[in-house]
This record gives sequence, structure tokens and C-alpha cells, in this order.
Amino acid sequence: MSFFAVFNHWLHLISVILWIGGLAFFIFIVSPLLKTGDPAYSCLQDISDRFRNIISPLLLILVITGGINFGIRRAGQESVPPGYISALGTKVLLVAVIASIHFMGHLAGRMRFSEKPTRPPRFILPKLTLVIGIVIIFLASMLRQWKF
Ligand code: HEM
Repeated sequence: MSFFAVFNHWLHLISVILWIGGLAFFIFIVSPLLKTGDPAYSCLQDISDRFRNIISPLLLILVITGGINFGIRRAGQESVPPGYISALGTKVLLVAVIASIHFMGHLAGRMRFSEKPTRPPRFILPKLTLVIGIVIIFLASMLRQWKF
């Protein structure tokens, strides 16, 4: 395996860790603090905006490095097993779903916190993204370990 393949795989994994790990940190560590009112909503708004800004470049890196990963995996093979294609297709479909959630969030400003909220936000879309992200990582493990 060439250094390029290792570097590409590493970039793919780092991007996954920053996105899904950051999301898990936000949901499990930061958002429960909302119930105590500290940090303030405006502070959380800043954290959310900053985090959202790094996701678009991460998505671009994931799509490019994912495509290269696939090219490297099928290099020298006559054909790719149909099961592998199905698992990869499902993975790409789910990536498209969480990418759409991300860009819709950008457009609609759904993750905005109002100045005087009546109740703490429930973070439905970030939670959904986290669950789908975990399923995508399971599919990635299948691609690696399953005998198709
Ligand atoms: C369109 C976007 C993507 C494509 C085309 C893609 C494609 C791939 C491919 C072909 C592999 C190598 C699988 C193998 O070893 O046979 C891989 C690895 C991996 N992908 Fe993706 N991927 C994409 C996005 C994502 C996203 C969004 C996540 C996580 C949320 C993710 C998580 C992973 C992980 C964790 C691995 C490493 C598996 C391992 O090292 O064993 N990928 N990806």
C-alpha cells in the first residue's frame, strides 16, 4: 500500500472523527448544560455556528477521500462484489441524507437559539445526524471486514 493510500485513509478518518466526534461532544456534554442556563444561549449560538462552518469543508474532504478510498480498494480487481456495492451505495445515500440535513440547517438557520427561549432546544436534527453517522461508521466497518 502506498503512502498516498495511507494518507488518504487517515484524512478520511480524521474528518469522520472531527464531525461525528464533535457532534457527540455537543449533544452529550454541551447541550445538557443548557438545562442549568450556563453557558448562555448566545454562547451556544457561537459554538454551533463555528462548528457548522467546519462541517462543509469536512464533507467535501469526506466525499473526495471516500471516492479515492473506493478507487484504491477496487484497483487490480476485475469486478467489485455486488454486496460491497450495495453496502457502499447505502453508505453514500446516508451521507447524502446527513449532508442535506446540514445544508438545510444552514439555509433555514434551524439550529438558531432564540434570545428568550420558552424551553431548551431539543436538537432533533443534530441527534438524527449523530445516529445516521453511527450507522454510516458501522457500514464502513462492514466494507472493511465483511467477506462479500
Ligand atoms: C460520499 C462519501 C463517502 C464515500 C464515497 C466513502 C467511501 C469509503 C470507502 C470506499 C471506504 C473504504 C472501505 C473499505 O475498506 O473497503 C471508506 C472508509 C471509511 N469511511 Fe467512508 N465514505 C464516505 C463518507 C463517509 C462518512 C460521512 C463517514 C462517517 C460519518 C465515513 C466513515 C468511514 C470510516 C470510519 C471508514 C474507515 C473504515 C476502516 O478503516 O476500516 N465515510 N469510506
